[in-house]
Amino acid sequence: MTSTQLYGKTILVTGAAKRVGAAIARRLHRAGANLTLHYHSSEHEAHTLQSELNLQRAQSVMLVKADLLETEGLAEIVKTCVERFGSLDALVNNASAFYPTPLGAISVSDWDEMAGSNLKAPLFLSQAAAPHLKSVAGCIVNITDIHAERPLKNYVVYSIAKAGLAGLTRSLARELGPEVRVNAVAPGPIAWPEDGSFDEVTRQRVISHTLLKRIGEPDDIARAVYYLIAEAPYVTGQIIAVDGGRSVSM
Ligand SMILES: NC(=O)c1ccc[n+]([C@@H]2O[C@H](COP(=O)([O-])OP(=O)(O)OC[C@H]3O[C@@H](n4cnc5c(N)ncnc54)[C@H](OP(=O)(O)O)[C@@H]3O)[C@@H](O)[C@H]2O)c1
Repeated sequence: MTSTQLYGKTILVTGAAKRVGAAIARRLHRAGANLTLHYHSSEHEAHTLQSELNLQRAQSVMLVKADLLETEGLAEIVKTCVERFGSLDALVNNASAFYPTPLGAISVSDWDEMAGSNLKAPLFLSQAAAPHLKSVAGCIVNITDIHAERPLKNYVVYSIAKAGLAGLTRSLARELGPEVRVNAVAPGPIAWPEDGSFDEVTRQRVISHTLLKRIGEPDDIARAVYYLIAEAPYVTGQIIAVDGGRSVSM
Protein backbone atom coordinates (compact mmCIF):
# COMPACT_ATOMS: atom_id res chain seq x y z
CA MET A 1 0.00 0.00 0.00
CA THR A 2 1.39 3.40 -0.92
CA SER A 3 0.75 6.22 1.54
CA THR A 4 0.24 9.71 0.20
CA GLN A 5 0.50 11.31 3.62
CA LEU A 6 3.39 13.59 2.67
CA TYR A 7 1.87 15.15 -0.47
CA GLY A 8 2.66 18.86 -0.56
CA LYS A 9 5.37 18.52 2.12
CA THR A 10 8.98 19.49 1.55
CA ILE A 11 11.79 17.56 3.22
CA LEU A 12 15.55 18.17 3.30
CA VAL A 13 17.68 15.03 3.70
CA THR A 14 21.46 15.28 4.17
CA GLY A 15 23.88 12.65 2.85
CA ALA A 16 21.08 11.37 0.64
CA ALA A 17 22.88 10.10 -2.47
CA LYS A 18 23.22 6.45 -1.45
CA ARG A 19 22.82 3.76 1.22
CA VAL A 20 20.57 4.77 4.14
CA GLY A 21 20.07 8.35 2.95
CA ALA A 22 18.84 7.20 -0.47
CA ALA A 23 16.43 4.74 1.15
CA ILE A 24 15.04 7.56 3.29
CA ALA A 25 14.67 9.72 0.17
CA ARG A 26 12.86 6.97 -1.77
CA ARG A 27 10.40 6.21 1.04
CA LEU A 28 9.55 9.87 1.74
CA HIS A 29 9.20 10.56 -1.97
CA ARG A 30 6.93 7.53 -2.41
CA ALA A 31 4.67 9.06 0.27
CA GLY A 32 4.39 12.22 -1.82
CA ALA A 33 7.06 14.56 -0.44
CA ASN A 34 9.10 16.99 -2.48
CA LEU A 35 12.74 16.57 -1.60
CA THR A 36 15.91 18.58 -1.35
CA LEU A 37 18.64 15.97 -1.39
CA HIS A 38 22.00 17.03 -0.07
CA TYR A 39 25.21 15.28 -1.14
CA HIS A 40 28.91 16.07 -1.13
CA SER A 41 31.17 13.73 -3.10
CA SER A 42 28.63 11.20 -4.46
CA GLU A 43 27.83 13.29 -7.54
CA HIS A 44 26.91 10.41 -9.86
CA GLU A 45 24.71 8.60 -7.31
CA ALA A 46 22.92 11.85 -6.40
CA HIS A 47 22.08 12.68 -10.02
CA THR A 48 20.97 9.10 -10.72
CA LEU A 49 18.65 9.16 -7.71
CA GLN A 50 17.28 12.58 -8.68
CA SER A 51 16.51 11.32 -12.21
CA GLU A 52 14.85 8.18 -10.86
CA LEU A 53 12.57 10.16 -8.55
CA ASN A 54 11.83 13.02 -10.94
CA LEU A 55 10.78 10.45 -13.52
CA GLN A 56 8.11 9.32 -11.04
CA ARG A 57 7.03 12.92 -10.28
CA ALA A 58 8.41 15.75 -12.39
CA GLN A 59 10.45 18.42 -10.63
CA SER A 60 9.87 16.93 -7.19
CA VAL A 61 13.55 16.56 -6.29
CA MET A 62 16.28 19.19 -6.09
CA LEU A 63 19.95 18.48 -5.35
CA VAL A 64 22.24 20.58 -3.18
CA LYS A 65 25.96 19.89 -3.08
CA ALA A 66 27.87 20.97 0.04
CA ASP A 67 30.63 20.05 2.43
CA LEU A 68 28.82 20.12 5.76
CA LEU A 69 32.09 21.04 7.48
CA GLU A 70 31.74 24.49 5.91
CA THR A 71 29.44 25.80 8.59
CA GLU A 72 28.87 29.21 7.02
CA GLY A 73 27.20 27.51 4.02
CA LEU A 74 24.62 25.56 6.03
CA ALA A 75 21.97 28.28 6.26
CA GLU A 76 22.24 28.64 2.48
CA ILE A 77 21.20 24.98 2.02
CA VAL A 78 17.99 25.65 3.96
CA LYS A 79 17.39 28.91 2.09
CA THR A 80 17.81 27.23 -1.30
CA CYS A 81 15.29 24.56 -0.33
CA VAL A 82 12.69 27.07 0.89
CA GLU A 83 13.16 29.27 -2.19
CA ARG A 84 12.62 26.29 -4.49
CA PHE A 85 9.62 24.66 -2.79
CA GLY A 86 8.14 27.54 -0.74
CA SER A 87 8.42 25.88 2.66
CA LEU A 88 10.31 23.32 4.72
CA ASP A 89 8.31 20.70 6.63
CA ALA A 90 11.04 18.35 7.84
CA LEU A 91 14.81 18.12 8.13
CA VAL A 92 16.54 14.73 8.26
CA ASN A 93 20.14 14.94 9.52
CA ASN A 94 21.56 11.72 8.07
CA ALA A 95 25.05 12.62 6.75
CA SER A 96 27.91 11.26 8.80
CA ALA A 97 31.63 10.58 8.73
CA PHE A 98 32.50 7.17 10.21
CA TYR A 99 35.97 5.66 10.72
CA PRO A 100 38.07 4.35 13.62
CA THR A 101 39.93 6.80 15.85
CA PRO A 102 41.77 4.76 18.48
CA LEU A 103 42.88 6.73 21.52
CA GLY A 104 46.53 7.83 21.12
CA ALA A 105 46.14 8.46 17.39
CA ILE A 106 43.26 10.93 17.34
CA SER A 107 43.98 14.07 15.30
CA VAL A 108 42.30 17.45 15.39
CA SER A 109 41.10 16.86 11.86
CA ASP A 110 39.43 13.58 12.97
CA TRP A 111 37.62 15.60 15.61
CA ASP A 112 36.65 18.32 13.16
CA GLU A 113 35.35 15.89 10.56
CA MET A 114 33.45 13.58 12.90
CA ALA A 115 32.02 16.21 15.25
CA GLY A 116 31.45 18.53 12.28
CA SER A 117 29.37 16.14 10.18
CA ASN A 118 27.59 14.27 13.00
CA LEU A 119 26.90 17.09 15.45
CA LYS A 120 27.87 20.63 14.46
CA ALA A 121 26.19 20.56 11.04
CA PRO A 122 22.92 19.10 12.43
CA LEU A 123 22.87 21.89 15.03
CA PHE A 124 23.43 24.72 12.56
CA LEU A 125 21.11 23.22 9.93
CA SER A 126 18.43 22.86 12.59
CA GLN A 127 18.95 26.43 13.73
CA ALA A 128 18.57 27.71 10.18
CA ALA A 129 15.54 25.48 9.59
CA ALA A 130 13.80 26.27 12.88
CA PRO A 131 11.83 29.39 11.83
CA HIS A 132 10.57 27.63 8.69
CA LEU A 133 9.68 24.46 10.60
CA LYS A 134 7.89 26.48 13.28
CA SER A 135 5.69 28.19 10.74
CA VAL A 136 4.36 24.85 9.46
CA ALA A 137 4.49 22.69 12.66
CA GLY A 138 7.30 20.70 11.10
CA CYS A 139 9.83 18.28 12.54
CA ILE A 140 13.45 17.20 12.69
CA VAL A 141 14.73 13.62 12.58
CA ASN A 142 18.36 12.98 13.45
CA ILE A 143 20.05 9.70 12.57
CA THR A 144 22.16 8.74 15.58
CA ASP A 145 23.54 5.25 16.36
CA ILE A 146 23.01 2.65 19.07
CA HIS A 147 26.70 3.33 19.86
CA ALA A 148 25.75 6.78 21.12
CA GLU A 149 24.74 4.95 24.31
CA ARG A 150 27.32 2.15 24.31
CA PRO A 151 30.50 3.38 22.60
CA LEU A 152 31.97 1.37 19.73
CA LYS A 153 35.50 0.22 20.59
CA ASN A 154 38.19 2.21 18.71
CA TYR A 155 35.58 4.70 17.43
CA VAL A 156 35.99 7.24 20.24
CA VAL A 157 35.26 10.41 18.27
CA TYR A 158 32.37 8.94 16.27
CA SER A 159 30.76 7.53 19.43
CA ILE A 160 30.89 10.84 21.31
CA ALA A 161 29.76 12.81 18.27
CA LYS A 162 26.67 10.58 18.04
CA ALA A 163 26.18 10.89 21.83
CA GLY A 164 26.19 14.64 21.26
CA LEU A 165 23.61 14.24 18.50
CA ALA A 166 21.40 12.26 20.86
CA GLY A 167 21.71 15.12 23.38
CA LEU A 168 21.01 17.65 20.65
CA THR A 169 17.82 15.76 19.77
CA ARG A 170 16.49 16.12 23.33
CA SER A 171 17.70 19.71 23.66
CA LEU A 172 16.08 20.81 20.41
CA ALA A 173 12.85 19.07 21.38
CA ARG A 174 12.76 21.32 24.45
CA GLU A 175 13.77 24.45 22.55
CA LEU A 176 11.46 24.03 19.56
CA GLY A 177 8.29 22.63 21.15
CA PRO A 178 5.39 22.91 20.98
CA GLU A 179 5.52 23.84 17.30
CA VAL A 180 8.33 21.54 16.15
CA ARG A 181 8.87 17.89 17.08
CA VAL A 182 12.46 16.62 17.24
CA ASN A 183 13.28 12.90 17.33
CA ALA A 184 15.99 10.49 16.28
CA VAL A 185 16.44 7.03 14.84
CA ALA A 186 19.38 5.02 16.21
CA PRO A 187 20.37 2.35 13.69
CA GLY A 188 22.13 -0.87 14.60
CA PRO A 189 23.94 -2.87 11.88
CA ILE A 190 22.30 -1.88 8.58
CA ALA A 191 24.94 -1.47 5.86
CA TRP A 192 28.59 -2.40 6.40
CA PRO A 193 31.12 0.41 5.84
CA GLU A 194 32.32 0.52 2.23
CA ASP A 195 35.98 0.84 3.24
CA GLY A 196 36.24 -2.82 4.29
CA SER A 197 36.90 -1.85 7.91
CA PHE A 198 34.53 -4.57 9.17
CA ASP A 199 36.08 -7.93 8.20
CA GLU A 200 34.06 -11.16 7.92
CA VAL A 201 34.86 -12.26 11.48
CA THR A 202 33.71 -8.91 12.88
CA ARG A 203 30.54 -9.02 10.78
CA GLN A 204 29.64 -12.51 11.99
CA ARG A 205 30.32 -11.48 15.60
CA VAL A 206 27.99 -8.49 15.27
CA ILE A 207 25.28 -10.66 13.65
CA SER A 208 25.59 -13.34 16.32
CA HIS A 209 25.01 -10.67 19.00
CA THR A 210 21.95 -9.33 17.21
CA LEU A 211 18.69 -10.90 18.39
CA LEU A 212 17.23 -11.20 14.88
CA LYS A 213 20.50 -12.85 13.64
CA ARG A 214 20.89 -10.68 10.56
CA ILE A 215 21.69 -7.11 9.64
CA GLY A 216 18.88 -4.75 8.73
CA GLU A 217 18.21 -2.93 5.49
CA PRO A 218 18.41 0.80 4.75
CA ASP A 219 14.63 0.82 4.32
CA ASP A 220 14.23 -0.29 7.96
CA ILE A 221 15.65 3.10 8.93
CA ALA A 222 13.58 4.86 6.28
CA ARG A 223 10.38 3.32 7.69
CA ALA A 224 11.19 4.69 11.17
CA VAL A 225 11.97 8.12 9.71
CA TYR A 226 8.67 8.04 7.84
CA TYR A 227 6.85 7.08 11.06
CA LEU A 228 8.42 9.97 13.00
CA ILE A 229 7.60 12.50 10.27
CA ALA A 230 4.16 11.31 9.19
CA GLU A 231 2.63 9.13 11.89
CA ALA A 232 3.87 10.40 15.25
CA PRO A 233 2.17 13.71 16.09
CA TYR A 234 2.49 13.10 19.86
CA VAL A 235 6.13 11.93 19.83
CA THR A 236 9.01 14.31 20.53
CA GLY A 237 12.41 14.13 22.22
CA GLN A 238 12.64 10.39 21.55
CA ILE A 239 15.29 8.14 20.06
CA ILE A 240 14.06 4.92 18.46
CA ALA A 241 16.56 2.07 18.11
CA VAL A 242 16.14 0.14 14.86
CA ASP A 243 18.74 -2.53 15.44
CA GLY A 244 17.30 -6.05 15.33
CA GLY A 245 17.70 -6.19 19.10
CA ARG A 246 21.46 -5.56 19.01
CA SER A 247 21.40 -2.95 21.78
CA VAL A 248 19.86 -5.31 24.33
CA SER A 249 22.53 -7.93 23.76
CA MET A 250 25.73 -5.85 23.46
N1 LIG B 1 25.17 1.92 8.00
C1 LIG B 1 24.90 1.49 9.23
O1 LIG B 1 24.84 0.27 9.47
C2 LIG B 1 24.69 2.47 10.33
C3 LIG B 1 24.74 2.02 11.66
C4 LIG B 1 24.54 2.95 12.67
C5 LIG B 1 24.30 4.27 12.37
N2 LIG B 1 24.26 4.67 11.08
C6 LIG B 1 23.98 6.08 10.79
O2 LIG B 1 23.00 6.15 9.78
C7 LIG B 1 23.28 7.23 8.87
C8 LIG B 1 23.41 6.71 7.46
O3 LIG B 1 24.35 5.63 7.44
P1 LIG B 1 25.17 5.29 6.12
O4 LIG B 1 26.00 4.11 6.45
O5 LIG B 1 24.25 5.25 4.95
O6 LIG B 1 26.08 6.59 6.03
P2 LIG B 1 27.40 6.78 5.14
O7 LIG B 1 27.22 6.07 3.87
O8 LIG B 1 28.60 6.42 5.98
O9 LIG B 1 27.42 8.37 4.99
C9 LIG B 1 26.30 9.06 4.47
C10 LIG B 1 26.74 10.26 3.72
O10 LIG B 1 27.28 11.25 4.58
C11 LIG B 1 27.88 12.20 3.73
N3 LIG B 1 28.93 12.95 4.41
C12 LIG B 1 29.90 12.52 5.22
N4 LIG B 1 30.70 13.56 5.58
C13 LIG B 1 30.20 14.67 4.97
C14 LIG B 1 30.57 16.03 4.92
N5 LIG B 1 31.64 16.51 5.57
N6 LIG B 1 29.83 16.88 4.18
C15 LIG B 1 28.77 16.43 3.50
N7 LIG B 1 28.35 15.15 3.50
C16 LIG B 1 29.07 14.28 4.23
C17 LIG B 1 28.43 11.43 2.54
O11 LIG B 1 27.96 12.08 1.35
P3 LIG B 1 28.75 11.96 -0.06
O12 LIG B 1 28.89 10.48 -0.31
O13 LIG B 1 27.88 12.64 -1.03
O14 LIG B 1 30.07 12.65 0.13
C18 LIG B 1 27.85 10.03 2.72
O15 LIG B 1 27.35 9.46 1.53
C19 LIG B 1 24.55 7.88 9.41
O16 LIG B 1 24.22 8.96 10.22
C20 LIG B 1 25.20 6.79 10.22
O17 LIG B 1 26.04 7.28 11.24
C21 LIG B 1 24.45 3.80 10.05
